[in-house]
Amino acid sequence: MKIPLGGFSRVVEIISVKYIMLKDNSARILIVDDEQDICDVIAKWLNSRGFVCSTATSGEEAVNLMEKNKFDLLITDIMMPGMSGVDLLAFVKSRFPEVAVIMVTGIDDEETAIMTFDLGAWGYIVKPFEFHDVILNVCNVLERRRLFLLRQDHECVLKEKAQEKAEGIRSLEEQLISVLLAALATHNDETKGHVRRIGLYSSLIARYLRWDNEAVERIYLAAQLHDLGKIGIPDQILRKPEKLTPDEFELMKKHTIIGARVLESSNLPLIQMAREIALCHHERWDGSGYPRGLHGTLIPESARIVSIADVYDSLIHERPYRRALSEDRALSVMNAYRETSFDPKIFDYFVTLLPQMRRMREEVKDDERCFVQ
Ligand SMILES: [Fe+2]
Ligand SMILES: [Fe+2]
Repeated sequence: MKIPLGGFSRVVEIISVKYIMLKDNSARILIVDDEQDICDVIAKWLNSRGFVCSTATSGEEAVNLMEKNKFDLLITDIMMPGMSGVDLLAFVKSRFPEVAVIMVTGIDDEETAIMTFDLGAWGYIVKPFEFHDVILNVCNVLERRRLFLLRQDHECVLKEKAQEKAEGIRSLEEQLISVLLAALATHNDETKGHVRRIGLYSSLIARYLRWDNEAVERIYLAAQLHDLGKIGIPDQILRKPEKLTPDEFELMKKHTIIGARVLESSNLPLIQMAREIALCHHERWDGSGYPRGLHGTLIPESARIVSIADVYDSLIHERPYRRALSEDRALSVMNAYRETSFDPKIFDYFVTLLPQMRRMREEVKDDERCFVQ
């Protein structure tokens, strides 16, 4: 292995010097070969270009050195007694993925080369090699690593920015819901506890139905606006302690349409979901609900969820016009409507989730009016 003196070596000289001057001459390189002479030759060449080199004569020794020191690049022989270069490559890629790896081999074997590239190696040198083989591989691989780390940093910054933006939107959405519920509270007797529990139960059921996280968070807020349309219903009907007359009930039914109208001008996904819930939470599985008499899966899933959560919470809490039912009694009433009012599959999930809902009930008591935080 001697350093060539021809035109090509001149090119390599220029490339390596340019790279080292412009980029990084302080890269820390670990050279691993069971023949100490080979380690020494490579280290001597790289040292002459300003790189900082360490050597190891086995995979095990290399692992030991890597656990204790920081390296940017590993140059490893493939065929070694004990831990092979391929094993070492696999270890490095799982434990230190930011370390670049160049494989060195005595056999020019295409299959082995492809396998090591698949495992994450970025360079491949065949013995016998010369100065320019090593220096070009090292410069190329270090440059690729620099760009890789730069891209990683950039992606990290973008991810953080996207997260900040999502948090900002979420905070605005919460404030919007809070303002709308505060407006509703001036009319409606439903409590802050009730609307929050509906949000919690609905998000619990949605998670069980394998909705993605974003949609689960969305239904937690959107469900709280299910009765927003009551803002347009006269006080004497909303607060009437007796049973409503048929005409009054017809008027009361309009809260679904009024709620949908209030929410229709926004294309925010949260408000769109709130709109479909406000419009459809009194629809029934068999088509006997209102306002449109939708049936089955034509009723949006969000509204089918909220409908169960709303009936459950309303029945087991006291209202101005009736006393609270025991949970057993409320469940037997609801069970009688399992296949007519409710989506039977969601109803069964709801029954499975009752223990968690009881805990939520304990945490969110019914002692405040309709403002949410
Ligand atoms: Fe309602
Ligand atoms: Fe309600």
